[in-house]
Amino acid sequence: MNINDYKKYISEETMMGPSCVRILEELLKQCPLQFAPGDEILDLGCGRGLTSLIIARETEAKVYANDLWISADENRNRFIEWGVDGQVTPVCEDANSPNFGEKQFSAMFSVDAYHYFAGNRGFFESKIMPFIKDGGIILIGIPGIKDKFEGRADELLSDWLGEDSHMFKSPKLCKEIIGNNNRIASVKTWEMECLDIAWSEWLAIDNNFSNGDKKYFDSIIKPYTCFVGIEIKLH
Ligand SMILES: C[S@@+](CC[C@H](N)C(=O)[O-])C[C@H]1O[C@@H](n2cnc3c(N)ncnc32)[C@H](O)[C@@H]1O
Repeated sequence: MNINDYKKYISEETMMGPSCVRILEELLKQCPLQFAPGDEILDLGCGRGLTSLIIARETEAKVYANDLWISADENRNRFIEWGVDGQVTPVCEDANSPNFGEKQFSAMFSVDAYHYFAGNRGFFESKIMPFIKDGGIILIGIPGIKDKFEGRADELLSDWLGEDSHMFKSPKLCKEIIGNNNRIASVKTWEMECLDIAWSEWLAIDNNFSNGDKKYFDSIIKPYTCFVGIEIKLH
């Protein structure tokens, strides 16, 4: 993936937080993947569809772009404008009550979204795994707290995040929460390298959300948080 191919799509209109494109780039670098045209990939919590566009362009697979806050119609219009509407299907469903087919997807991606709905033990096993094929792969990138500060999210992050602080978990805890299952071959979690670049591209935007984050970058975001990379491989 060459990030320059996607710069024209990255804008105030399509971004919803620290650059999902940078996070996806690092996930794909860490775990290069190849798919066939018949494969189906779920992009869970795709927001305004930037990652879905890239996954579609970088693979020949069919992509399901699922989000809760952004309507399927809004995303469909963007996919038509971007020329990928035949390959990317917009869906608007709650990840807590999904309606996908059993073992439908060869892979699932989730960038800057999974922490909103998947913080409890058992979620992966009951709500995600049933839709993934044997041999499938799940790649997730989410904001979290560095391993050395695990257990201190309320104390360290609440000036910035308020009651949402609890959603920020360390790589070590994310791995524990995913848990074990005889379908899971391996789970790897790590502190991603793209923290500075992903945040700087978001903070360069001038809107109420990014300006709110800007005030806390030096005092909270950079010292205490990270992006947690998660790679799960199924048997
Ligand atoms: C910060 S935005 C990030 C969007 C996009 N992935 C990106 O990085 O630009 C978080 C996204 O998570 C999605 N989300 C939150 N809760 C969800 C749920 N229960 N089911 C599906 N998506 C959810 C929201 O709709 C929102 O678009």
